Amino acid sequence: MSEIITSKDLHLYYGKKEALKGIDLSFNENEITAMIGPSGCGKSTYLRCLNRMNDLIPDVTITGSVVYKDKDIYSPKTDTVDLRKQIGMVFQQPNPFPFSIYENIVYGLKLKGEKDKVKLDQVVEESLKAASVWNDVKDKLHESALSLSGGQQQRVCIARVLAVNPEIILMDEPTSALDPVSTGKIENMLLELKERYTIIIVTHNMSQASRISDKTAFFLQGELIEFDKTKKIFLDPAKQETEDYISGKFG
Ligand SMILES: Nc1ncnc2c1ncn2[C@@H]1O[C@H](COP(=O)(O)OP(=O)(O)OP(=O)(O)O)[C@@H](O)[C@H]1O
Ligand SMILES: [Mg+2]
Repeated sequence: MSEIITSKDLHLYYGKKEALKGIDLSFNENEITAMIGPSGCGKSTYLRCLNRMNDLIPDVTITGSVVYKDKDIYSPKTDTVDLRKQIGMVFQQPNPFPFSIYENIVYGLKLKGEKDKVKLDQVVEESLKAASVWNDVKDKLHESALSLSGGQQQRVCIARVLAVNPEIILMDEPTSALDPVSTGKIENMLLELKERYTIIIVTHNMSQASRISDKTAFFLQGELIEFDKTKKIFLDPAKQETEDYISGKFG
């Protein structure tokens, strides 16, 4: 297993408030890593650092480095639009664009100038299939994505990320707004997708983390407390704080 993205001594300040206190963490290709920890511990902040989504928030200072395939993404040379295609993101609330399902999926490719209808059709079908939502939507590709259920919308949003051919998919509580059936579909999909992608997922759902992830990172108050194989974290954690959190003593 080789490392695809690594943060070193990563600090992030919102104004003067230090939200990340020197995070060293490395993610392997084709693994699912779960990020867990109580509300406000910095999981979303950390996730956004990995594709520079925090650039969009005013008064943020970041120090340290994030190296993705031998390049520091915080270098001024980084094209952040390209970066966010290679490192895509899925959010807690499904956020399809108010267009048709088809136009949602081809959006990124059309921006890049792709006009070939055959190619676009092919990407739509492949992405929707990979996101396990093709059978739900194949007969209504030209209807509004907003007409779908929440679970279907979230899978369309995942397909939209897949359509631009990313290497890493960041997911911030992608199933917390969904029912158990939709959640199960997404979990099964993620286990298939990890053959081709690296997945980093924030979750408050401990059983989800233990079902699907290879590694788990436990955060507390802006610090990484423990990072290890998921089995180790859940069965035999090294730190008392980890044990207290996963056994439901706080958070
Ligand atoms: N845009 C912002 N401006 C200022 N402070 C922020 C901002 N976003 C987050 N914070 C603060 O940074 C800390 C970490 O927040 P973050 O959203 O990363 O936590 P989280 O672990 O994702 O929590 P949750 O589980 O509730 O989503 C919190 O104290 C939060 O109040
Ligand atoms: Mg969060």
